[in-house]
Amino acid sequence: MKISSAEFVISNSEVSKCPAERIPEYAFIGRSNVGKSSLINMLTGRKSLAKTSATPGKTQLINHFKINNNWFLVDLPGYGYARVSKKTKQKFQKFITNYFEQREQLICAFVLVDIRHDAQKIDLEFINYLGETEVPFCIVFTKADKIGSSKVEQHIKAYQDSLYANNWEEMPPYFVTSSSKGIGKDEVLEYIDAINQD
Ligand code: GTP
Ligand code: MG
Repeated sequence: MKISSAEFVISNSEVSKCPAERIPEYAFIGRSNVGKSSLINMLTGRKSLAKTSATPGKTQLINHFKINNNWFLVDLPGYGYARVSKKTKQKFQKFITNYFEQREQLICAFVLVDIRHDAQKIDLEFINYLGETEVPFCIVFTKADKIGSSKVEQHIKAYQDSLYANNWEEMPPYFVTSSSKGIGKDEVLEYIDAINQD
């Protein structure tokens, strides 16, 4: 899919204030600093559409971007950022769970995980939460440029085993990406395009 337009629409912390338009929507979620905003910039080919930072906790709100005038990409705040969760005493901020529970336009959540790390408890908890909430999701392995290509399959297999150990019966669709190298761009966009064509 070619991205001919990508524009920022609105940021907010209330699902009721998200755009009312009924077009397909895809959300990017994962731990703080995993690379959600960078992935959105890589996919859209716009360097600074979504704000990124080396410091975790950069994205604080629900950010809607309208793509090709007919679907939304949504950049969300990260979870699992110690300073935030200590203060709020919540693993997943309420407005984020409200988003997943109430946003009817949402077609698929892309759960980002750093390919260098073993499955983290908080990610598995979030994946289980999506399962309970019946939100379709894919897994996006990020920062693939940081490991040798021979290690990629090994990491995916280990991740799959962790999901099986958490009572998942199959691996969801998954993508290997690097925002700095442009890896995985076509695969993710083709996946979205195929759903949008249905
Ligand atoms: P929050 O909004 O704070 O939750 O973070 P985020 O998940 O949106 O991460 P962001 O895109 O801001 O990226 C965090 C850091 O990781 C930045 O320093 C990025 O440059 C870096 N980064 C993101 N993706 C990649 C990647 O594919 N490869 C490498 N090497 N670095 C990456
Ligand atoms: Mg971000």
